[in-house]
Amino acid sequence: MAMVCLSDFEAHAKKYLPKIAWDFFAAGADDCNTRDENILAYKRIRFRPRVLRDVSLMDIRTKLLGNEISFPVGIAPTGFHQLAWPDGEKSTARAAAAMNTCYIASTYSTCSLEEISAAAPGGLQWFQLYIHRNRAVSQHLVQRAEALGFQGLVLTADLPYAGKRRDDVRNGFRLPPHMKLKNLEGAFEVCKTNLLDPSVTWNDIYWLRSLTNLPIIIKGILTKEDAELAVRHGVQGIIVSNHGGRQLDGGPATIDALLEVVEAVKGRVEVYLDGGIRKGSDVLKALALGAKCVFIGRPVLWGLAYK
Ligand code: FNR
Repeated sequence: MAMVCLSDFEAHAKKYLPKIAWDFFAAGADDCNTRDENILAYKRIRFRPRVLRDVSLMDIRTKLLGNEISFPVGIAPTGFHQLAWPDGEKSTARAAAAMNTCYIASTYSTCSLEEISAAAPGGLQWFQLYIHRNRAVSQHLVQRAEALGFQGLVLTADLPYAGKRRDDVRNGFRLPPHMKLKNLEGAFEVCKTNLLDPSVTWNDIYWLRSLTNLPIIIKGILTKEDAELAVRHGVQGIIVSNHGGRQLDGGPATIDALLEVVEAVKGRVEVYLDGGIRKGSDVLKALALGAKCVFIGRPVLWGLAYK
């Protein structure tokens, strides 16, 4: 069957992935209202189309913090890519580089930062950080990423505790024993427990700043108040995100929160968005409301699972 849109890849992934992996990728928190709103909200927004504008030449390149990408869609950080394809994040990194776009590699990758970086030399890669209770583990990860040539540090701010994803609970989801969170291998001899630090606050941005010269992008902002705090704490970018609806159920669709954030930052930092982007017209709506670029999460996993 010809694959003509992302829904085709979604249907294919649903058919061929093991149920436990499909459910993990698809999961939202609690009733999945926010996950579903991310998609529905785009359907409520209508264009005001203008015509006769000479669109024979179109240039859709953009820059992320000074680095050019070919089109304004990057790859959001998602964990556990080997659940979709044996080469895991190495394939994702190659695909991003082939398309000349940005890949944000997750802390919870099943390939190491070294493997991801070597798979796509010269590709624009950012590293997504979850802060662990054992700060030495996080410090080491940040410094490893910088030394490897990652060009941005994305701090995910909306996961002090993991959301309740019901199907994962029902399925008893865990990573198969032959897959490893390679970035954290060895860390747990020191750390003992794999626990994220729920006590993280805005002050920890200063701590991160002291560790690295990389630009810091904060992911998971949904309000003007937090956007203002992010700017005041010196971040270089904001990703308006609700973690694909996997964390707080009941928050807004990201596209509905975007304008409030864009208006609050007044051009002082770059604003990006993820969540529910499934079509070119969704991208246009996000750009029209002030996003510099969007990122996609689940569709990348469906693509990885395609054979
Ligand atoms: C995620 N997301 C995520 N975010 C993050 O900062 N670190 C991570 O490790 C993960 N892991 C992860 C796994 C899976 C399976 C999904 C679906 C999502 C959230 C991700 O970066 C992004 O915010 C959403 O996926 C965007 O929504 P869409 O494009 O999936 O609708």
